[in-house]
Amino acid sequence: MIAQQHRVSSYVLSSSSSSSSRRKNNGRSFSSSSFFLKRRTTPPTRKVTTRAEAEGESSSKRKTTGATRTVVVTSGKGGVGKTTSSANLGMSMARLGYSVALVDADIGLRNLDLLLGLENRVVYTAMEVLEGECRLEQALIRDKRWRNLALLPISKNRQRYNVTRDNMNTVLDLLKKSDFDFIFIDCPAGIDLGFINAISNAEEAIVVTTPEITAIRDADRVAGLLEANGILDVRLLVNRVRADMIKNNDMMSVKDVQEMLGVPLLGAIPEDTEVIVSTNRGEPLVLKKKLTLAGIAYENAARRIVGKQDFLIDLEQPRKGVFQNIKEFFTGEDYE
Ligand SMILES: Nc1ncnc2c1ncn2[C@@H]1O[C@H](COP(=O)(O)OP(=O)(O)O)[C@@H](O)[C@H]1O
Ligand SMILES: [Mg+2]
Repeated sequence: MIAQQHRVSSYVLSSSSSSSSRRKNNGRSFSSSSFFLKRRTTPPTRKVTTRAEAEGESSSKRKTTGATRTVVVTSGKGGVGKTTSSANLGMSMARLGYSVALVDADIGLRNLDLLLGLENRVVYTAMEVLEGECRLEQALIRDKRWRNLALLPISKNRQRYNVTRDNMNTVLDLLKKSDFDFIFIDCPAGIDLGFINAISNAEEAIVVTTPEITAIRDADRVAGLLEANGILDVRLLVNRVRADMIKNNDMMSVKDVQEMLGVPLLGAIPEDTEVIVSTNRGEPLVLKKKLTLAGIAYENAARRIVGKQDFLIDLEQPRKGVFQNIKEFFTGEDYE
């Protein structure tokens, strides 16, 4: 099995010049261990917003990063967890006190509204804003639970509207002029026009992949395209990880995936049946009172986006990781 993985990984590497060039690229690409060393020599600000603090915060007292950060959540292969990740990361960031806009750019197969439980409230979309039928504020659907989180569907009907890159750019320019700290764009799958339009106004990207060779190869292409389009701030989210399968050498480890792609790791999310329950309820995992490991992993990834955490949960020894996470969360201490 290991030999087979090596064959597969060398195939991906040799079939792609983009990943090897990323490795050399401006010091952002690294092996996982050097990443930790690099981050630890420059620890993030230790002032941590506790969830209690964030929950007590009114939107007027919200945190602000200054400029809006526009992050596209993308993948090559479909069905790897872009929408699940956009919903959970967006909700986590809102709970951390940031003002977040989630843009559903998966125009034909929009389902971010479902995952957030906001499907009945989609009246206007960005297309009506562009056609002058309503104001941006009217198309933004504010989450009832966290008012500092807003959803913006681009269009309700792909047949009716042909969304151009200019359309996307105008919408994002309007959003950037609003008071958002973060804009997350949930991208359509694939690398066709929808993808190019969705990334064209983003400065950062999160590439989502599962630890399967098909998804990794497509993620590699996407990472290359992002780089070619001037998006150099790219981070990797490995989803649906199964520690038991990795242990039996039946699944690539997160480190293997990260090294194959040569993209810095934002997080690893375990396979979790609760994802289905949360989708059906329209309630992202991170809202659960008793967080599952996947919920904690999403919260951690969100904290890493704002440099509040420099470790990853060890999915093979989650209890240890969770304890360290909780300790760090309350004390702001580095763990060793
Ligand atoms: N960590 C996970 N554990 C279990 N199922 C997951 C996980 N992440 C995503 N899924 C499931 O995978 C499917 C595709 O997820 P989705 O977020 O819609 O992917 P995409 O937006 O990339 O097409 C959904 O059925 C979702 O419930
Ligand atoms: Mg999707």
